[in-house]
Amino acid sequence: MSRNLNKMLMLVAIYLYLLVPAASKPMPKRADTSTLPGLPALCMQSYKGISWGWLPDDQRPDATMAKLEADTGKKGCFYGAYSHIRSEDYDPSEIENMTSTADGAILVPSIMPWNVTWSNIDNVLASKIGSLIQSWSDQGFVTYLRFAHEMNCYSDPQCSPGETYAGGKGDPDAFKQAWQLIANACHGIPNCYMFWCPEWTDPQHQDVFNNWWPGEQYVDIVGLDYYPRPEAVNDGFAAAYGPFYQQWVAPYGKPLLLGEVGTSSSDLGVKDAWLKELTMGDFSEFPLYQGAMWFEYDKKGTNFYIALDQSKDQLDTVDLNFV
Ligand SMILES: *[C@@H]1O[C@H](CO)[C@@H](O)[C@H](O)[C@H]1NC(C)=O
Ligand SMILES: *[C@@H]1O[C@H](CO)[C@@H](O)[C@H](O)[C@H]1NC(C)=O
Repeated sequence: MSRNLNKMLMLVAIYLYLLVPAASKPMPKRADTSTLPGLPALCMQSYKGISWGWLPDDQRPDATMAKLEADTGKKGCFYGAYSHIRSEDYDPSEIENMTSTADGAILVPSIMPWNVTWSNIDNVLASKIGSLIQSWSDQGFVTYLRFAHEMNCYSDPQCSPGETYAGGKGDPDAFKQAWQLIANACHGIPNCYMFWCPEWTDPQHQDVFNNWWPGEQYVDIVGLDYYPRPEAVNDGFAAAYGPFYQQWVAPYGKPLLLGEVGTSSSDLGVKDAWLKELTMGDFSEFPLYQGAMWFEYDKKGTNFYIALDQSKDQLDTVDLNFV
């Protein structure tokens, strides 16, 4: 090709590029990073470098991040709380003031599309959620938006009887579209990251996950919720998370933050064993595993507490895992 033709083609290309409205250009990924973004300085780290956080029992006004810090002597990195979208006119009151109780942690709101279908989630709803997070960003907070967590279970009445996302499991494409709208709102806000967090299912059921993966550029952090039974605690981290890690974490190079951890047992010995495995296990095969959030609830007949209401001995046992 002649030099002039080359030059001309380039000018045409630039001209066309400028003509395309910004919105139709592909959205860049938020985090071109394989590490958890925005970690507060000096928050809880295990001796193996795992960052730690809490989902404090929302039925107890005294179960605060500050109390957990006072009990353990360490500042949690992540603060999880739940909010339900009960209508298209989203009411954020369940989480709107979480900055005042965060004790400096990263905010991890689980915003659950309870009574809206996937296609009810439009730009208006997305911008309502966006303005909430923008106000947190203005106050200097980092947000990991755990939108529609455990979508593969909550969308299925068999998996979650009586408590289901109205969008159901029949239309994963509509879910993806909803997710992308929320992601675009989030990615327009400084320090907002999309946190995709399905629920553990048998590794044989990978198709379930395939249906719910919103697309690489719309996900910044990957998670998984899983509560092993006591027998499975002995099988260790690799048995619990290995297959998921190989399929959904390693190929994308995004950080793994376990969105809810705990065990299905109220037995303190079992809980302590699992805590130790999650913080002090052998993670050499899992370099992208970087954080976890303990489900510090007393709920549905299981007491998950490892810190609330515990003796000094138990708090020391917890602390043994952390720098
Ligand atoms: C959140 O804080 C604002 C300002 O202090 C207050 O007006 C509002 O009622 C609070 N919301 C909830 C749900 O407590
Ligand atoms: C909202 O969703 C919840 C959970 O699935 C359900 O129990 C409740 O009846 C729904 N409320 C309305 C008004 O549809």
